[in-house]
Amino acid sequence: MLIGLCAAEAVRLAGVPFHEWLGLSLIAVFLIHLLLAWTWIEFHTTQFVVRRITRDRTNYLLNAGLFVVMVITIFSGIMISESALPFMGLHPKGNLRWRDLHSLGANLVIVLAGLHIALNWDWILKAVRRRVT
Ligand code: HEM
Repeated sequence: MLIGLCAAEAVRLAGVPFHEWLGLSLIAVFLIHLLLAWTWIEFHTTQFVVRRITRDRTNYLLNAGLFVVMVITIFSGIMISESALPFMGLHPKGNLRWRDLHSLGANLVIVLAGLHIALNWDWILKAVRRRVT
């Protein structure tokens, strides 16, 4: 997911058509990521109300923010599509506002994804160690 996001951020390097198809394929990766994290989401949604642990709540709000920003970025990307959507016979009427929103969303995704990784670093290290050893 992270590799896909980094590649999606490099629009100038990859070219717009590749960027768009990659962005669209990230929808599937994003959904799989959410499905794999579903137990965490269910558990922490109930815990958010019941237990008031600052770290857990911060993490939960950050993840919720990242979800919203990802949806906005992908949706606004679709609205300004110049290649993938026209290829499918669709011609979205994206204007400058959608473009600005896409640009803002893409910047926020980087910040929030960085914080998301930082807050879950222990979990990531453990998962990598489990696979390597
Ligand atoms: C999470 C997924 C995505 C990320 C992180 C992302 C990121 C970016 C970034 C950083 C830019 C450059 C913004 C700027 O120049 O200010 C950009 C531009 C653009 N993106 Fe995305 N994008 C994503 C998904 C999509 C999707 C799904 C589409 C369309 C199907 C799309 C279509 C476009 C288009 C048309 C541009 C303008 C390219 C140009 O002409 O300069 N993006 N995107």
